[in-house]
Amino acid sequence: MTFSVISPPTCIMKILGFIMMMMITGSVFSEAGVYNVLNYGATSYNKGDSSNAFLKAWNLACAESGKPTILIPEKWTFLVYPVNFQGPCKAKNVVFMLSGTIVAPELPSVWKGRDTSKWLIFGGVNGLIVDGYGVIDGRGKGWWDQSCKHNTWKGCTSLAPTAISFHGCNDSTVKNIHITNSAQVHMYLGRLRDFGVDNIKIQAPWWTPNTDGIHIQASSNLGISNSVIGSGDDCISVGDYTSNVWISKISCGPGHGISIGSLGKDSNFVQVSGIHVSDSYFDRTTNGARIKTWQVGRGYAQDITFKNLQFYKVRNPIIIDQNYCDVRNDCKEQVTGVKIRNVTYSTLYGTSDTDIAINLKCSKSVPCSEIWMDNIHLANAVTGKQVTASCYNAYGREFDVVPGHCLLKSAPTTSGL
Ligand SMILES: *[C@@H]1O[C@H](CO)[C@@H](O)[C@H](O)[C@H]1NC(C)=O
Ligand SMILES: *[C@@H]1O[C@H](CO)[C@@H](O)[C@H](O)[C@H]1NC(C)=O
Repeated sequence: MTFSVISPPTCIMKILGFIMMMMITGSVFSEAGVYNVLNYGATSYNKGDSSNAFLKAWNLACAESGKPTILIPEKWTFLVYPVNFQGPCKAKNVVFMLSGTIVAPELPSVWKGRDTSKWLIFGGVNGLIVDGYGVIDGRGKGWWDQSCKHNTWKGCTSLAPTAISFHGCNDSTVKNIHITNSAQVHMYLGRLRDFGVDNIKIQAPWWTPNTDGIHIQASSNLGISNSVIGSGDDCISVGDYTSNVWISKISCGPGHGISIGSLGKDSNFVQVSGIHVSDSYFDRTTNGARIKTWQVGRGYAQDITFKNLQFYKVRNPIIIDQNYCDVRNDCKEQVTGVKIRNVTYSTLYGTSDTDIAINLKCSKSVPCSEIWMDNIHLANAVTGKQVTASCYNAYGREFDVVPGHCLLKSAPTTSGL
């Protein structure tokens, strides 16, 4: 972007033009092109389900050319049952203007006979713009209470609805919204290309089960920026078949940190590359910069950068776990593994809540290679206590690293790739 000095008269003209434009767009809200859910039968949440009204507004907007807007008006709260906003739509852009609040059904029984993994879905819509300063409230308590993570009784559930899912939506953006208390994952991004998330807020209590902030799967060219995420699981997790993701200016915590993985769980051929995490802050999270892969996986996770990160009392500020396994006693050393190579850690500062600030656990058969560390300064959160670096089968180079060096220097052969 270039900025030029504008002379005062031109400046006034520009401001007047801007005001007129605002007046025009303001008046458009009551005209054609705007589909206010109230006009299609939506009612206050205490009067019942508004999903049919939302769908009616969606279907009309989706069939319109021009730039249709579905409006969820401010100061209103709507109860919406599981719903699928399906594309493709006719217009190049469809705006979902969330100014009010959408709440989920409180009782898990509402999902009986439905897909329990989802609540609000956008599928196959290109040029979608989700905007507005409204709230999506998953009211997940009913699901948390019966989660198998907290219970062992027979009726416990492991799969609960993701608050908002985007499937196969290209050239789209989500901005300014607030998502809270999801039953499980807050936002799922799957099979997307050219997708941006900016200035959003995600909040759930730290103890809530599997409530990842944002999970990415099978997508490329994504940007996630300027967002505040605190939940009971990963703030952001990057899944298989994902490339070119830029994550920046995230404030993460509480939660499990920003995680690449877990990858390769189904012994699939992992292809993850070009993941960049920068300019972010981690507040008392369990992990900071984390990569975790399953031993049974194959393929690669490569060309990854973690840059300009600040940690405050983080349990594992820098961690690679290439032998990830969530079943006890079933994690014997295997000959397969996801190759982790070309990972850069640069300018990482702050405090560790455990004595091991750098912990790279790579496999013997498929070691980590081309690990670059530069300008890393980590201290123990407890004053006077030291921190250490621990590396297994990790090769690379490092400069100016506190707590000290631990990488192996000679590059191994790339067998196992
Ligand atoms: C989005 O882009 C991908 C990759 O180019 C393509 O395969 C997919 O069909 C596109 N989705 C839509 C809804 O157009
Ligand atoms: C290593 O990864 C960076 C991106 O983090 C990329 O620009 C560079 O080309 C990669 N280097 C090699 C040798 O693959």
